[in-house]
Amino acid sequence: MALLKIARMGNPVLMTRAEAVADPTSPPIASLVRDMVETMADAGGIGLAAPQVHVGLRVVVYYVPASRSDDGEEAPLTIMVNPVVEALGTETTIDAEGCLSLPGMSGLVRRPTRVRVSYENLEGDRIEREVTGYHARVVQHECDHLDGILYPMRMDDLSSFGYLDEIPNNSACSDRQENDRGSAA
Ligand code: NI
Repeated sequence: MALLKIARMGNPVLMTRAEAVADPTSPPIASLVRDMVETMADAGGIGLAAPQVHVGLRVVVYYVPASRSDDGEEAPLTIMVNPVVEALGTETTIDAEGCLSLPGMSGLVRRPTRVRVSYENLEGDRIEREVTGYHARVVQHECDHLDGILYPMRMDDLSSFGYLDEIPNNSACSDRQENDRGSAA
């Protein structure tokens, strides 16, 4: 196990479309996932995509404890290889996001409320599920990383973008604490 260095916005690896994983069951992928889970936990994040640790592969991990979820629903530790996300319906929700690649910052992002996601697990099984609310937001944020998209690129009003510790009514300025807004992913 190893802690991996997290790329910050501006690094080309974050702006590049990641490559599909040929074999999700291969030992190097298992090793990468172990390191990503450890790095995510160490950084106090709720999600991490491989490009954020300088690996241009379509791999995502996330875990949202109930205390960090805006709607109080836990999202268990999930590993997604080669995920594909599709919006369901036309309903959208606007909510705060943060990102380990933009430390200390937050912004409001509108996203589809409900999505279908299909991915491979480390056993090579193709899983399909529907997720909603904050869980759906995390899935979309992480999968965006695989296409070189960071959340500010999804914002339609940059006036809500800023440093967490400057934003009024924000209860915490560290992403290691429970936040009112902008859990880092
Ligand atoms: Ni992120």
